[in-house]
Amino acid sequence: MTPSLGPSRVVPRHPVPGPHNWQGACGAPTLHCLLDQPGTLFTTSGRAAILLGLEALALSPADRVLVPSYHCPTMVSPVLALGHQVAFYPIDADGRPSLAWLEQHAPADTRVLCVAHFFGLPLDLRPVRAWCQQRGVLLLEDCAHAMFGEAPHGAVGALGDVVIASLPKFFATQDGGLLKVARPARPLPPLTPAGAKAELKSGFDTLEISARFGRLGRWRVWAEPLLGVKQLLRSSPTTAATQPTPAGFVPEGDYARIDMALSHRQPTRATVRAALHSSRERVIAQRRQHYAAMATAFAGRAGMRPLFAALPERCAPYVFPLWVDRPDPTYQLLRESGVPVSRWDWLWPGVPDMPGDHGKSWSLHVLQLHCHQDMSDQDRDWVIGSLLSHCTG
Ligand SMILES: Cc1ncc(COP(=O)(O)O)c(C=O)c1O
Repeated sequence: MTPSLGPSRVVPRHPVPGPHNWQGACGAPTLHCLLDQPGTLFTTSGRAAILLGLEALALSPADRVLVPSYHCPTMVSPVLALGHQVAFYPIDADGRPSLAWLEQHAPADTRVLCVAHFFGLPLDLRPVRAWCQQRGVLLLEDCAHAMFGEAPHGAVGALGDVVIASLPKFFATQDGGLLKVARPARPLPPLTPAGAKAELKSGFDTLEISARFGRLGRWRVWAEPLLGVKQLLRSSPTTAATQPTPAGFVPEGDYARIDMALSHRQPTRATVRAALHSSRERVIAQRRQHYAAMATAFAGRAGMRPLFAALPERCAPYVFPLWVDRPDPTYQLLRESGVPVSRWDWLWPGVPDMPGDHGKSWSLHVLQLHCHQDMSDQDRDWVIGSLLSHCTG
């Protein structure tokens, strides 16, 4: 008999669009946000930002980009799509690149080091920056998880030669990314406009998601008639295409595919507007509150431990990283029952075993529990309860 996890619950995996997420009066910013950094460019995704950032560095195909052993495949595919070389480096227990390894083993053809502020917890990148400077290597600071925050050296995004971020991880958008290149070796190409069809689709998708979670609020007055018309115009009833989840990671599959045209396109206006007008204080406060509640609930439990129990003061987390001793098969069951959880178990093929590396074990044991602003306290407590009943002991 297949084990089950008890009653399921519909918890949004991502921030939900709606007036509740809209900024009223714009107060003084309390935490640095990459959206305020001058010279940034909106892109269609974080991976598009990596691709465009690398293009702006004018590397040669033989040049190598080093990526952490703990990664999302979307950090690797832009590098390969441009025909560059990739290698993987080990990470220390705090998530920073192992400097000892870099000193001894970084390949001579390394031109770019990609470093991520995992989970939205800002890393002190000064030693890594110093290593890059000594070696003539460019730093790609991946802030996909860290839209907000300050590290001991200053704001996130302050040290990278290339800085990228991903909008839907923090704001109620379906897509979107951010790019800053400090000193482009070649100018960024002008991005093509999204076009009317993409704008319309993005607008309707936003409203449909909002309606699905009952968050249209005062938008209901105009949004419901619009959605009604759209429903009428649909020639045939839409059945949500259920994509079977592949059993393992396929590099040439859809998950990490790089769409060159889309990567060179502007994001839609709906995406940019939603990011710029999101209520930042709400984003920061709710995430911090969920993170703190999870850290308390999971502390001292058998079979699990918060990977970083203490939340740094000056940040907004993307997810709560929870180490689980025996993650399988519970991880799949958690996902099936609707728990908003992710795991980076799909590493790019060929990540070597490296002495002292924490990345490979994180990819198996670390569950990334979503803790975004549109999870209610009840949602969060249900997530905690699901984890406690199935992962302890
Ligand atoms: C650390 C990191 N970098 C880059 C990306 C790519 O961002 P996007 O999904 O917006 O393309 C991701 C996506 O999960 C990520 O986790």
